[in-house]
Amino acid sequence: MRRPYLSALLLVALATPAFAQGEVNVYSSRHYDTDDSLYKTFEESTGIKVNRIEDDANVLIERMTSEGELGAADVFITVDAGRIGRADLAGLLQPLNSDIIDEKVAPELRSPDDHWTAISTRARAIFYDKASVENPPQTYQDLADPKYEGMICTRSSSNVYNLSLLGSIIAHDGEDAARAWAEGLKNNLARDPQGGDTDQLRGIVSGECQIAIANHYYFARAFRSEVSGLTEGLDKIGVVFPNQETTGTHVNISAAGIAKYAPNVDNARAFIEYLLTPTAQELIANGNDEFPVVEGVEPAPEVTQLGSFRRDELNVGSFAMNGDVAQRIFNEVGYR
Ligand SMILES: [Fe+2]
Repeated sequence: MRRPYLSALLLVALATPAFAQGEVNVYSSRHYDTDDSLYKTFEESTGIKVNRIEDDANVLIERMTSEGELGAADVFITVDAGRIGRADLAGLLQPLNSDIIDEKVAPELRSPDDHWTAISTRARAIFYDKASVENPPQTYQDLADPKYEGMICTRSSSNVYNLSLLGSIIAHDGEDAARAWAEGLKNNLARDPQGGDTDQLRGIVSGECQIAIANHYYFARAFRSEVSGLTEGLDKIGVVFPNQETTGTHVNISAAGIAKYAPNVDNARAFIEYLLTPTAQELIANGNDEFPVVEGVEPAPEVTQLGSFRRDELNVGSFAMNGDVAQRIFNEVGYR
């Protein structure tokens, strides 16, 4: 006799992360080769099983919103403060309440309401063609200087990396200055915004752009493994970590928070604390050529060779919340 309701129940059980003790349900928009060892090491050292749900950050935010109080999410992990800021604004996170996190992570890399913490950082840098650009821009503000007209490549304004960068300029200089900057940058573009960060770097190699804005790891990883259209031209490209004499280089984060309705709060906290151990920090940072957030852990050699820099110490929370204003400003100046 067929019992379809039983198979349906079984299917639901298999598709739904467990609520039992001894488990932690991680909703993550990061997926790198090193993640398997990252999760396995946690399971082996604590006996807590990790159930992973990986998807685009916006999809996970929608899922957590629709699941509400019945949600299975314990930990939410994302790249870019702007995205975890969106989850926080949607009321999907709760306080971390961890002395370990407070002690290990610099205050400017944690949300002021204790709802999330950085687990690694990434710098938004300026790249240039060494042969044709004698005086490369030294600041984000320089990128709006008419002397660079027709030379710059960067991706679309709706990309969260650009929204966070403009969000940081809004936080430092106010909306009017941010609007003037966005307009100046738009006027200096070599082509309509298109592609990802790697495509902006490829534009330097192909000669379509003389200057590009990109996160540092898109450049660093091309030293380690073959990136078509980029690796062969790496020695043409110079890097500037901007604003060293002023505010410091804009850094963004990979971030983790505890879900508002986490069924396993203690395990969620233990998992995030684990992400800040030296072993986990090495795996996280090396998985995507990012910078560790915990002192004493070194970035990959491909990253170290780019040189050291002073980072902007503006609290990441202050630009994480500026995404909507930044998008409005980009739209107002006609930056696509
Ligand atoms: Fe990225």
